[in-house]
Amino acid sequence: MLRFLNAGESHGKGMTVIVEGVPAGLLLEKESLERELERRRLGYGRGTRMEIERDRVDILGGVRRGYTLGSPIALWVENLDYPNWERLMTPDLSTRALEERVTMPRPGHADLPGVLKYSTRDIRDILERASARETAGRVCATSVAKILMRQFGMEVISHVISVGEVEASSSRKPLPEDLKTIDQDPMRCLDMEASAKMLNLVEEARAAGDTLGGKVEVLAYGVPPGLGSHVHWDRRLDGLLAQALMSIQAVKGVEIGEGFRMASVRGSLSVDLIDYQEERGFYRHSNLAGGIEGGMSNGEVIWLRVAMKPIPTMRKPATTVDIDSKRRVEALAERADVCAVPALGVIAEGMVAWVLARCFLEKFGGDHLEEIRERYLLYLERIKNF
Ligand SMILES: Cc1cc2nc3c(=O)[nH]c(=O)nc-3n(C[C@H](O)[C@H](O)[C@H](O)COP(=O)(O)O)c2cc1C
Repeated sequence: MLRFLNAGESHGKGMTVIVEGVPAGLLLEKESLERELERRRLGYGRGTRMEIERDRVDILGGVRRGYTLGSPIALWVENLDYPNWERLMTPDLSTRALEERVTMPRPGHADLPGVLKYSTRDIRDILERASARETAGRVCATSVAKILMRQFGMEVISHVISVGEVEASSSRKPLPEDLKTIDQDPMRCLDMEASAKMLNLVEEARAAGDTLGGKVEVLAYGVPPGLGSHVHWDRRLDGLLAQALMSIQAVKGVEIGEGFRMASVRGSLSVDLIDYQEERGFYRHSNLAGGIEGGMSNGEVIWLRVAMKPIPTMRKPATTVDIDSKRRVEALAERADVCAVPALGVIAEGMVAWVLARCFLEKFGGDHLEEIRERYLLYLERIKNF
């Protein structure tokens, strides 16, 4: 089974990532992982940390002479900022001065529930791991899934569709070939007019010491019918995708296809009519379902929208209560992003690719890439002649 784990704190030495279940024979070069990590840094509105981080990946296991071995893949991403934090973050036994503790929990963060749950009086013990720096580990792991899925003609892309109250026009869905243009835009938005407005909004929020959220759309092209399953709740593709996307820090909503709009229309306007043509096979007149029916991919483009709340750490700090004195104080305003919606798209692409790769390997899995290819081609042939 395909799975990944990562370990590491935001200002610790670095991030360790273990990816298990990747078949042998996949070309895996660290440069392709670094390209995705570079994309995670994209977007106007990020904090100063993005200027410090230049993420480099070391492949420590599971790959030999460029190709995966079928054994667990071990990856390492160093935190270049660590020397500045070593005294506070050292794993070695050392006494911590009382005044070095963080005691003011930030609302909207893991801070307060975390200290209560893990019995610590230093909020840094919690915030270091709860930080979205963890997504560097995810992007590393999920890039492997992207590379694997590309072998079978699948491509996952994303674009920003709103920031704050500014919405991009929904006139056209981007195609994989649009990704370069999207990545070149400072807001990762296909609608240039909306992008300019988003940029202004970020500037306004920054000046006011405030922050912004927004939405991204993720699209997966080339996905065959039959990934996921209707037979049990925890095998449904829609459920798996929603969980994976909801697990991203600050994500508060996931919509599959026109899910929310469908709640207010008649049934007759809510289904994607099925049709058939000799050369196309089965196809649909629309794709309101976002390419998923009954917990399975149906062969149409999979598309989802992901909503992110505004960044909870603000230069204009929120009020809170000091966990020691119980007095009302201003929350700690750590160095923070004003808007991270463009980066969310890259992380969300990865999570979608990961779930699809997992379901793909569940259906066609084998120990070597070519073994999987044989099974996949046989399946495609079978559904073509259905
Ligand atoms: C790419 C990305 C960057 C983020 N940057 C920040 C940040 O700079 N400051 C901050 O307070 N929260 C940031 N967040 C959001 C927090 O990590 C998140 O709100 C917090 O961990 C609490 O989790 P929850 O919002 O899911 O409840 C970021 C999230 C993502 C996905």
